[in-house]
Amino acid sequence: MAVIPLVYHPDERLTTVATDVPEIGGEIAQLAEEMLATMHDARGIGLAGPQVGRMDRLFVVHVPEDEPRVFINPRIIAASPDEGPYEEGCLSIPGVWADIQRPLEITVEAYDQSGDAFRLDAGGVLARVIQHEYDHLDGVLFIDYLTRRKRERLMKTYRKPGPEDDGAVDE
Ligand code: NI
Repeated sequence: MAVIPLVYHPDERLTTVATDVPEIGGEIAQLAEEMLATMHDARGIGLAGPQVGRMDRLFVVHVPEDEPRVFINPRIIAASPDEGPYEEGCLSIPGVWADIQRPLEITVEAYDQSGDAFRLDAGGVLARVIQHEYDHLDGVLFIDYLTRRKRERLMKTYRKPGPEDDGAVDE
């Protein structure tokens, strides 16, 4: 299965709103499979379309002790009032981690790679990753939630990986 080159911050595609997938067919199913392969190769637990240069509203998620999941044209329809911190990272900003506050439980509706609609109640890491990936479809990165001061401090040592660094990403 082909691995797709990752898009790294800063990149305009990571701050652009993606568009709905008009029709779920073989082409988008294959893209989802390639995104899963790319995510596994990079040892990530979530990956959104814009992170592989595809401005389509889809993302893939595979958290420990769960199956790989594909979300096409997702909508988060409910979120718990309870929020909590969790240390987040991103395959598009390698080596950068920060505690981010988000709702602990969510309900999401989406289509899978066969075009079937589903609804999922998620908590724990799964709820966390779904919200992080969903943000990517709206051009939002987890570092956007930090205060400017905190973000600047955190990003001081970050260097955008070049093509020569491909395969060196370990998170
Ligand atoms: Ni990310």
